[in-house]
Formats: sequence, C-alpha cells, structure tokens
Amino acid sequence: MDSVEGARVVVTGGGGGIGAALARGFAARGARVAVNDLDAGKAAAVAAEIGGVAVPGDAAATVADARDALGGRVDVYCANAGVGTGGDPMTDDDAWQHAWDVNVMAHVRACRALLPAWLERGEGRFVATVSAAGLLTMLGAAPYSVTKHGALAFAEWLSLTYRHRGLRVHAICPQGVRTDMLAASGEAGRLMLAPDAIEPGAVADALFTAMAEDRFLVLPHPEAGRFAQARAADPDRWLDTMNHYQRKLETREGAAQ
Ligand SMILES: NC(=O)c1ccc[n+]([C@@H]2O[C@H](COP(=O)([O-])OP(=O)(O)OC[C@H]3O[C@@H](n4cnc5c(N)ncnc54)[C@H](O)[C@@H]3O)[C@@H](O)[C@H]2O)c1
Repeated sequence: MDSVEGARVVVTGGGGGIGAALARGFAARGARVAVNDLDAGKAAAVAAEIGGVAVPGDAAATVADARDALGGRVDVYCANAGVGTGGDPMTDDDAWQHAWDVNVMAHVRACRALLPAWLERGEGRFVATVSAAGLLTMLGAAPYSVTKHGALAFAEWLSLTYRHRGLRVHAICPQGVRTDMLAASGEAGRLMLAPDAIEPGAVADALFTAMAEDRFLVLPHPEAGRFAQARAADPDRWLDTMNHYQRKLETREGAAQ
C-alpha cells in the first residue's frame, strides 16, 4: 500500500481546518475518503466536495462505521480531531478529561479497532495530527500541551512496536495553522502562533512528502525541530526562554483588559 491511489482513508475531524485539507489531499491522489466530524453538516459538505463518504459522530467511535462505509477495509487512518483546551491546574477535571479523551484516547480506541486487521495483512498507516505543542508546549494551555505530549508518545510507541510488522505511523507536529482552532486560541495564539501561521493545505503537503520519504515526524514548520533540539540539549535554557514569552503574554493580557 505504498501508493495512495485506491487507498481507503478515514479522516477524523475532517469537516474543517487541517482535517479537510488532509481529506482533499488524499482524494486528489485517488483515495476513497471517509470524512468524520462531530458536526454532521461539515462532514457531509467536505465528503460531497471530494466524492467521499461522510461518517458523522465522535472520532473515538468511528472505525466500525467508517470501515463499513469504505467497503470493509481501512488502509489509512488519520486521527486528526482535536480540542485546543486551554487552562492550568485549576481548570476543572471535566475539561482535562475531555482533552484526554479527544486528543489521546480517541487514537488509542481507533488503534484497538484497526490493529488486528492491519497486523494480519502486514500493512496499515496511522497518521496522528499532534502539534508542535506535543514536542514543545503551548503557553496558557496545560491540558492541550500535556495531552499532545501523550498523543506523540502513543504514536512513537505504535511505530516502534509495529514497524517490523508493516505498520507505518506519522506524527504531524505543526505550529500555527490558519483554522478555527487558531482563531479561538486568544492572546497566546496571537503571540506564539499567528505570526508564522501556515495554511492547512501546507500541512497536508508536508504529510505527503513524509509519506514518500517514509518519515515518522512531520514538521510543516521546520523550526519546530530546531526548538525541540534546543529543548533537549539544554532544558533550563529552553524553560527560561519560554518563561520570557509567558511574561510577555501576561503583559499583553494585562494591557488588553
Ligand atoms: N490550528 C492549529 O494551529 C493547529 C496546530 C497544531 C496542531 N493542530 C491540531 O490539528 C488538528 C485539527 O485542528 P484544526 O486546527 O484543523 O481545528 P478546527 O477547529 O478547524 O477543526 C477541528 C475539527 O474537528 C472536529 N471535532 C472536534 N472534536 C471532535 C470529535 N470528538 N470527533 C470528531 N470531530 C471532532 C470539529 O468539529 C472541527 O470540524 C487538532 O488535533 C489540533 O490540535 C492545530
């Protein structure tokens, strides 16, 4: 299944933003795409545009319906749906749990449903839309940062455990991307993400390049890789730098009030 032509692909959260761009990219390369989204209208609109099928509902429970809609088989699963939950330790448990369920457990639950057939066939491709926040962090958004680290850890674990059995895994880790989520990210998003934000189509292009190169880590913003190296090389220096931006954010938020 090296080629995308004819592949059966699921994209969760495919009704808008990065997911819609992934769905369009796969369809343009000849794949049959099942578009999932919590918002049934958005899923239907993207599916109609690309000649795919809509599979509305929660991403965590979408594999069986998507597999049926695709004729009994899934070749590529894009675990893309995510929530940009902001907050800190005072944020209530329900918000932390929601971020954990959508950003991490939906990936785990999908794999539970996908892996038996993939391992039997000796092929399958799992694409996780993580975030540069999974490599680094996001100011003002502890639930998002922690759960995106979890999503990256899970993708790494999948890849190292099953790569000799034909499973290919990609973790997409963009910084800012011009979507509804970025628009809702407030002052922290305007400070950290908006200046270098890219279009969703550029994220999809980066995935297809990584697939062609058989590469796990997809960095639509190459500088995220350099920041990750700096963080690993000198954690305290990196924390000082991020704290500098935190203080800048507090000043801007104070001025905006
Ligand atoms: N926009 C950015 O700057 C950015 C940067 C890095 C990573 N990401 C990640 O990219 C992914 C897509 O985000 P986006 O920016 O395109 O956001 P978006 O808000 O434009 O789109 C997200 C879509 O997911 C759907 N959705 C939300 N929860 C769902 C659920 N439980 N089940 C099914 N669908 C659900 C929404 O209805 C929406 O259509 C997310 O995982 C996000 O964390 C975004």
